[in-house]
Amino acid sequence: MKVTVSRKAHFNAAHRLYRNDWDFEKNEAIFGKCNNPHFHGHNYELIVSVTGNIDPETGYVIDMKVLKNIIKNEVEDAFDHKNLNIEVIEFKTLNPTAENIAVVIYNKIKPLLDNSLDLEITLYETPRNFVSYSGK
Ligand code: NI
Repeated sequence: MKVTVSRKAHFNAAHRLYRNDWDFEKNEAIFGKCNNPHFHGHNYELIVSVTGNIDPETGYVIDMKVLKNIIKNEVEDAFDHKNLNIEVIEFKTLNPTAENIAVVIYNKIKPLLDNSLDLEITLYETPRNFVSYSGK
């Protein structure tokens, strides 16, 4: 019997989507407003979902205090009010799209969880646009 527990979190961050090896016109055509050379911000909403068996002793899949601290340390402290392109090492050479941010968050959190637990990251870049990644 597998149960999924989820916790929401939030961070504000700036980014710019572009490729150095493309000219401005191509970057503008593909990335549009997100290619603004002066960067721009998003209010990211994050849902971290952990799936596993209920521990018969505690009744928990994972202690929410533990999950809360992992999200704070790995995501909020690392990304909140940061310029992702400039200040976050993972995006030095990786475009900080919602897709890539979700994968980076997954890769930071997964090793900190018990091996028996499955993880899914859902990241909203806008209220209408969101992506999810579960390691597949
Ligand atoms: Ni953007």
